[in-house]
Amino acid sequence: MSNKAEAPKLTGTPGDGPIQFMDLRAQQARIRDGVEARLKAVLDHGRYINGPELTELEEALCAFTGAADCVGVASGTDSLIIGMLGEGVGQGDAVFVPSVTYNATVNAVLLAGATPVFVDVRPDTFNIDPADLAAKIEGVLEDGALKPRMVIPVDLFGLPADYPKMGKVANEYGLQIFADAAQSFGGSLGNARVGTLAPLSSTSFFPGKGLGAYGDAGALFTMDKAKGEVWRSIRWHGTDEARQESVRVGFNGRLDSMQAAVLLEKLSIFPEELELRAKHATHYDTRLGDKIDLPPRNSGFQSSFGYYTIALAARDKVRAALKAADIPCAAYYAQPLHKMKAFAPYAPEQGLPVAERLADELLSLPMHPYLTEGQVDRVADVVLGAL
Ligand SMILES: Cc1ncc(COP(=O)(O)O)c(C=O)c1O
Repeated sequence: MSNKAEAPKLTGTPGDGPIQFMDLRAQQARIRDGVEARLKAVLDHGRYINGPELTELEEALCAFTGAADCVGVASGTDSLIIGMLGEGVGQGDAVFVPSVTYNATVNAVLLAGATPVFVDVRPDTFNIDPADLAAKIEGVLEDGALKPRMVIPVDLFGLPADYPKMGKVANEYGLQIFADAAQSFGGSLGNARVGTLAPLSSTSFFPGKGLGAYGDAGALFTMDKAKGEVWRSIRWHGTDEARQESVRVGFNGRLDSMQAAVLLEKLSIFPEELELRAKHATHYDTRLGDKIDLPPRNSGFQSSFGYYTIALAARDKVRAALKAADIPCAAYYAQPLHKMKAFAPYAPEQGLPVAERLADELLSLPMHPYLTEGQVDRVADVVLGAL
C-alpha cells in the first residue's frame, strides 16, 4: 500500500520529442509503483465493490475540494443522472444547458426524463451566458408547457462558469444550479474549489480528464449531507442503508475499488500537475496573447486547464498547419449540440449565434503536465505562423 506522505517527484521530463495532446504514459511512469501497490491491496482484500478505497477516496476528495460530502459513482454521466434523480427532476421539467459542451450533459437530462432547453454561451469564456439564461427561462414561462427547474452550467475546458451571476438568475426564478464540472476538477473561484461553487456539482474521472482513473468513474459533491445519502442510495439500486429494501428508483452507478485505488494514487500528484498545467497555459498565453483574444485570466476564476482552448477565425488553417507539423490538436466542439441529430428537436427557433460561430473557431492545443517549455514554443510557433 502506498501511503507516502510526499508525492513522487518528477524524474526527468520527456524532452522535446513528439508532442502528445495529453500524456498518460509519462504520468504513469511517475506513479506506476504506487498504483501497482494500491491495486495489489485491492486484490489482497478482494472487496472489489465498496472496498475501503472508496471511502478513503471520498474523504480525500472532500478534503481537497472543501465539500461536506462526496459520493463516488461509475462515470461523469451517471453523476449527472443521479444528481437529477435525487432532486426529483423529470418529466415536465425544463433543464437549461449550454449548447457548447460534450453531449453527455444533454443525454443525462433526457435520460432523467426532463427536457433540455439550450442556452447560448459567452464569446469570451465559452461558458453559459447568464443573460441568455434569463431570456430562455422567460421563454419557457411564456410558453407554459414546462416548469423551469434546473440549470446545468458546464465549466468548459476547465474554467468555472459564472456561478455568482447565475446564482442571481437562479434565485429570481427559483431554479436549482447543478454544476457539470467534468472538465474543471481542480479549478477554483477565489478561495473556493470546484465542487463547492454550486449546491450540487458533478465531475468525471474519465482517463483523459485532469484527474482520471484507468477506466470510468465520476463523483458528486455537495455541502448538504442529506443529498449525499440520497445519492448513495440511488447508486446502489435505490436501496436503504441496509440494502434490503428499494426505497426509491435507482440503478448500478457504483465506483469500483480498483478505480478508487488508481484515483487515490493519482490524487497524490494532482496539485503539482495542476501547477504544471497552469505554468504551460501561462507560457501559451505569453506567446499567443498579442495576436489572439484569450479567455479572461486573473479574474478570480481559475481554470484547471483540462484543455487549452482558443477561438480563431482561421481555425481550420491553423489546424492544417499543426497537422502538417505533426502536432496533435482537436476542434472541441465542432458542432453545437442543438445542431446534432439527436438534439435538434430541442433547438431554439432563432438559433444560438455565439455557439454556432464558436463551432467554427474553437481549437484545443496540446495540454498536459508533462509538456516542456520547448514543446509549448513549437506549438505556438506553428499557430502564429499560420495566422
Ligand atoms: C462536460 C462533460 N460532461 C459530462 C461528461 C461525461 O463524463 P463521463 O465520460 O465520465 O461519463 C464529460 C466527459 O466525458 C464532459 O466533458
